[in-house]
Amino acid sequence: MSVIVFGSINLDLVAKTPRLPMAGETLAGNHFLTAGGGKGANQAVAAARLGVPAQMVGRVGSDSFGQELLAGLQAVGVDTAGVLIDLDAHSGIAMIAVDDAGENSIIIVAGANGRVKISDVGRLIKLLPSAKVLLLQLEIPLTTVLLAAAAGQNAGIPVILDPAPARPDIPDGLYPLIDIITPNEIEAAQLVGFPVNDPETAAKAADELRSRGAGTAIVKLGAQGVFCASAAESFFVPAFPVEAVDTVAAGDAFNGALAAALATGLSLHQAVIWGAAAGALCASKAGAQPSMPDRQTFDAFLQEQTHFKI
Ligand code: RIB
Repeated sequence: MSVIVFGSINLDLVAKTPRLPMAGETLAGNHFLTAGGGKGANQAVAAARLGVPAQMVGRVGSDSFGQELLAGLQAVGVDTAGVLIDLDAHSGIAMIAVDDAGENSIIIVAGANGRVKISDVGRLIKLLPSAKVLLLQLEIPLTTVLLAAAAGQNAGIPVILDPAPARPDIPDGLYPLIDIITPNEIEAAQLVGFPVNDPETAAKAADELRSRGAGTAIVKLGAQGVFCASAAESFFVPAFPVEAVDTVAAGDAFNGALAAALATGLSLHQAVIWGAAAGALCASKAGAQPSMPDRQTFDAFLQEQTHFKI
């Protein structure tokens, strides 16, 4: 039984620079790489690398990037039968700058991701019976996210929404379809309308998101850790100490690992620890999909963190 992801697939064009450029500035970078990306695809790869079957539903363009992206997903074992090659679009692109401190800025051109529609939800619905958990993000049209969440709820499987990238127009009707919502500090603040930057404000934000209908709210606080509140419990998991090289896709690693853990029957608390560990490992390497930890690295890392033994 698998994790199924309905979302975006991008090719990331990554430039390393000493610092992020200012408006109007031309800056010399010192390293360039291309890598598979897109929040949806990254999350599918994160689950697959941990040894949990993952299926991807979405679109790539009919360009060479699309072929490269499909091959990359297949190489790590992601089932791409649900991915359509859109003959009238280019593949999704992300132009990413990463500075020496590991901070980043990203420009996305949606391409095929922006053309995901009801027919794609139809492909998702056919695959849902073989899935244990549905993972959603906000890099495809919101109407399709809403339909997919409803389909996941109808199928009786947990629906996880990573409300990224941050957007203010999430309809009220989406929250009751979501079992677990996983914003970072910026996304949480945008959703609830007040600053979220520590465990106290994260708890307040989680209460607000749950009052709108989300079953469980997990607020990611970056280097501080993760706050989680459900109907049954609330807890804080401190961040694993790692040297951040590139935080791109750390949130995706968190979501993919969270879903993978839940799909394999681990508790919510264990799943949040998996998410935090995968996020930390991802931040310690460059690139989105290339930085998702494999199971051996992941298990060894958790073993070393004696205070986090699960
Ligand atoms: O979350 C990181 C991802 O955001 C990148 O891989 C990029 O493609 C954008 O979608």
